[in-house]
Amino acid sequence: MPHDATSDDHQTRIEDLLGRMTVEEKLGQLQQLAWAWNTGPGGGGTADVEAAARKGLLGSVLNVVGAANSNALQRIAVEESRLGIPLVFGLDVIHGFHTTFPIPLAQAAAFDPAVTRTDGEVSAAEARSNGIHWTFSPMMDVTHEPRWGRIAESTGEDPYLAARYAVAKVHGYQGGDPSDLSAPDRVAACAKHFAAYGGAEGGRDYNTVDVSEQRLRNLYLPPFEAAVEAGAATVMAAFNTISGVPAHANAHTLTGILKQDWGFDGVVVSDWTGVRELIAHGNAADEADAGRLALSAGVDMEMVSTTFADHGRSLLDSGALRQDRLDDAVARVLRLKLRLGLFERPYVDEAAAITAPSTRTRAAARAAAGRCMVLLKNEDGVLPLDAGIVRSLAVVGPFADSGDLLGTWSLPGAPEAVPVLRGLREALPDADVTHARGVPADGPDTSGLAEAVAVAAAADAVVVVVGEPPAVSGEAAVRSDLRLPGRQEELVAAVAATGTPCVVVLVGGRPLTIGAWADRVPAIVMAWHPGIEAGPAVADVLTGAVAPGGKLPVTFPRTVGQIPLYHNHERTGRPYDPATPQEKYVSKYLDIADGPQFPFGHGLSYTTFALGDPALSRERITTDELHAGATVEVAVPVRNTGARDGEEVVQLYVQDPAASIAQPVRRLRGFRRIRLAAGEERTVRFTLGAADVGFWTNDPAGVHTVEPGEIHLHTGTSSHTHARQTLLIT
Ligand code: BGC
Repeated sequence: MPHDATSDDHQTRIEDLLGRMTVEEKLGQLQQLAWAWNTGPGGGGTADVEAAARKGLLGSVLNVVGAANSNALQRIAVEESRLGIPLVFGLDVIHGFHTTFPIPLAQAAAFDPAVTRTDGEVSAAEARSNGIHWTFSPMMDVTHEPRWGRIAESTGEDPYLAARYAVAKVHGYQGGDPSDLSAPDRVAACAKHFAAYGGAEGGRDYNTVDVSEQRLRNLYLPPFEAAVEAGAATVMAAFNTISGVPAHANAHTLTGILKQDWGFDGVVVSDWTGVRELIAHGNAADEADAGRLALSAGVDMEMVSTTFADHGRSLLDSGALRQDRLDDAVARVLRLKLRLGLFERPYVDEAAAITAPSTRTRAAARAAAGRCMVLLKNEDGVLPLDAGIVRSLAVVGPFADSGDLLGTWSLPGAPEAVPVLRGLREALPDADVTHARGVPADGPDTSGLAEAVAVAAAADAVVVVVGEPPAVSGEAAVRSDLRLPGRQEELVAAVAATGTPCVVVLVGGRPLTIGAWADRVPAIVMAWHPGIEAGPAVADVLTGAVAPGGKLPVTFPRTVGQIPLYHNHERTGRPYDPATPQEKYVSKYLDIADGPQFPFGHGLSYTTFALGDPALSRERITTDELHAGATVEVAVPVRNTGARDGEEVVQLYVQDPAASIAQPVRRLRGFRRIRLAAGEERTVRFTLGAADVGFWTNDPAGVHTVEPGEIHLHTGTSSHTHARQTLLIT
């Protein structure tokens, strides 16, 4: 962080306050308590929160809802406590406050970080106007685990995509200047969960993560480093262990990498009771020990559990906790409050609080949802639905007339999603749009199946809206079976058997295994949980008013037994070769075709695109030049070869065929979503530098290396590409 006048002024004020605070007041600044709404076990209690604020023994509160409530609580801290230090209010504003955008995984599918930036801007303005200063977002946990419910909150399986989104979301929430977060439409961001939370074994939430240093640094850390560089004000520790050491007690990651190597000067907040959970992890003997371990390792603020506040004084007195570490943690919390301008403007203008989505924010959410949808399959020209031809349309399935499409982490009181049925009725005013639910989202009831089949049989086309409800993705929502729940597969099969042209709209918070029925239907659109404007956005895509151009940010496996299955896997000594499928002693399953149902980066459009061979600005470069910042430009000609305007995501992958550490078979290092008119051609340019062609070694000291040799470049419209160019590093 540059030493400018603002940071000098902040430092002076921090030192002045530190000089006047008692040990208890210092420990109080490190305490965050939950107010009325609980997002974890054992929190809440407005009277306790108010009492702690009055005594000056509280730094922050999470889950305060409403401008009047936040002002009332702030007044206690500012006007009744001895030093009048304002509270900082945090909330999980993950993909919207009033205006719920598509879930983060869906946003990643847009392959367009501007989508997430817009969500960040809209969310920040709505939240701050209601007295929320700090959001616990963005989550940037790369994961290879679709069983894990929190994949819905992530941007999927790729660290480069995650890093690009992390930066855009931080900028969306905070604006461009991390030293000044005081604007009435900005909030502090929180990069979470540090680190490797997405690696939970078996996908079970909160589970063990054992990870090599190279994988930690190449796979899990890049989005965090990018977020810190972009100025993320805070970072949240993760619930998991990292190779045996819980993330909350991990000095290597929290202090060594985050604070020392990356120079992070913001706040590390624990996750909900994450400090006390060091006891359950078997790492701390008791609460005092848990507090000592976490604070010493680099946690600055404790969410919900109270080990710092309860034991900090005795830990200091016994010498188990260093005074300078305590003062550093307090300084970080005070710096956050200064950056947020809370000392100058602790209250919000209740009359100006945003209380509902506006026409403008709804339009933004609709546009975002349309960009996030992925056309997985489209045979026989079923899509787009032609308003001139479709006179009657059946819309069936448990999610056809459902408002439950906001996704995990929608806030209490946020307006429901507009149902797909309504969206299609509005988009096709001249068509006879009929509806039958068929089967419920879950459970054995098939009593409505016959009616759904009848309406489908009688229509020109049928849209089947099936999938999983938001309640089965998100935190602590892990599934061992990724098929459609209940009897939904039977519904799809029965409707497909009518012979009426059929489009499946899939909703969900993760990849679903659809192999049992995908071949029976000509068209499938992955709509994820699309947010408040779900119905209109689905209608936009199905009718072609919006050109689908999204791509999968995660691999869709054929079956759960293939998991983990991801595009950027490391090379093996015995790879499967499709040219010799009968070869036994290779890395494969005996009982299923090799590879995924749909690969990472896959997604169709209503037109076709052709990519020409990439051209390099130079074909050789030295390691010295790369270390000094030199780059190579890759130019890829793209042409819309179809008859409609459309959007495509041009993707660039690199592969290092001989390196001192086995490399991924491909690494995404560039993507660009472009719109081309029918017949139009354009050249897309990417830039490759040391970060793109090098990698982190296993050295715990953090060594990034660029090795001489060939780098193969793959360009394409999905991760199923092959090498098209070679760059030589000498
Ligand atoms: C989650 C965090 C969240 C926190 C506060 C925890 O259970 O893991 O992501 O920010 O609760 O609600």
